Parts: sequence; C-alpha cells; structure tokens
Amino acid sequence: MLTLGVLVSGSGTNLQSIIDSIEGGSLDARIAVVLSDNPRAYALERAKKHGIKTCVITKKEFPKREDYDRKAVEVLKDCGVELVVLAGFMRILSPVFIREFPWRIMNIHPSLLPAFPGLDVHRKVIEWGARFSGCTVHFVDEGVDTGPIIIQAVVPVRDDDTPETLRQRILQEEHRIYPEAIRLFSEGRLTVEGRRVRIKDGRFCEGVLINPTVRDE
Ligand code: GRF
Repeated sequence: MLTLGVLVSGSGTNLQSIIDSIEGGSLDARIAVVLSDNPRAYALERAKKHGIKTCVITKKEFPKREDYDRKAVEVLKDCGVELVVLAGFMRILSPVFIREFPWRIMNIHPSLLPAFPGLDVHRKVIEWGARFSGCTVHFVDEGVDTGPIIIQAVVPVRDDDTPETLRQRILQEEHRIYPEAIRLFSEGRLTVEGRRVRIKDGRFCEGVLINPTVRDE
C-alpha cells in the first residue's frame, strides 16, 4: 500500500477528497502525515477528524528555505512517505526537498497548465477572456508549475463568471482528478519520459469541446 504525506496550508478540500477516496475503497493508500506551514489551516482539523497524524512547521521556526525543507524532508522520511502530495501548500519547494523525492512529488494547480501558472489564476483567466480553464495534476520539478503533466480536467468559462464561481466549478474537478492521479501512481502506471508522463493502459478522452457551442447544422 502506498504511503502518502500531504502538505497543506489552507482549507484542505483536496485533502478531503483523497481521504474520502481512501475510505471509500477506490484508492489503495494511507496518509502517514499531514504537514502544514499554517497552524490555523482547516486541513489540520480534517486530518484529525480522520485520525491522521499532523505536523506543523512554521516559517518562523525555520526562516531559511533550505532549513525549512530539510526539516520537512526529515518528518516525511521518518513517516515512511513514498509520495508527497501538495494540496494547497503555499510554499515553493527548494531543490533540497525536490531532490529527495525524484518524481515522487505531485501538485495540483487550478488552471490548464502551461497557461496561467502562479497565483490569482481565476481572475487572470477571466480578464484574459479564455473560454476554457480547468485544473492540472503534475509532478513537481525545480520550476514553479512546470513539471510533467499527469492529468487535466477542462472546465468552461462563462461570461457571467466571477473568480469565485469559476474557482468553485474547477475545485469540483480537482476533487476528481487528484485521487485519480494518485491511484495511477499507486498502481505503478506512470512513467516520466522527458517532459511527458506515459500512462500504462490509460483510457484517453475522445470528445471535442467547443465553448460557446456551435449551432446545429
Ligand atoms: C486548490 O485550488 C489547488 O488547486 C491549489 O490550492 C487550492 C487548495 O484548495 N493548489 P484546498 O485547500 O484543497 O481546498
């Protein structure tokens, strides 16, 4: 069974979707620790409700990024973590951390990467006028939101969307694709080849999406 360490900073709805997949039997994994840089993260309460060990490491304790990352690695390794899952963790990891878990760190980002990396994504998508946005699960490399893409979900953008309505629509899909990406990993079906992730026996989407829809001919 795959041992996960989940890193969080906020509300933890993605953490919840992973817990629910495990408890529902669709994901054969266990969460050994939920680690947060924010002692007030609601994600910590979610973990505790499910009897999952939690750990808080604040920036105040380890102001230097590398020191912080060394401490986090120590905690994760002590817990036997095999896959690190970033679920709304608001810190950028240094190479000190990333090199300890090569292609064993996943992140979820609320856009269709490589479009709209970084922060404040939904506002930027709407201001740009994009007709689709979505979410991406990717392996973490030493860049920001640049690592090999595992799975994406496409979500339409409406003319009346606000950043909040778009965020909510995308978040629902995040909760579907993150457990799925972890499941593919746990089944040993993901291989990184250069920038690409190959999925053994992947079931690929056939449909085409057009937004707004084309009038019937
Ligand atoms: C999500 O939008 C995720 O894509 C981003 O941070 C947010 C975390 O939300 N990386 P939650 O804490 O899982 O609810």
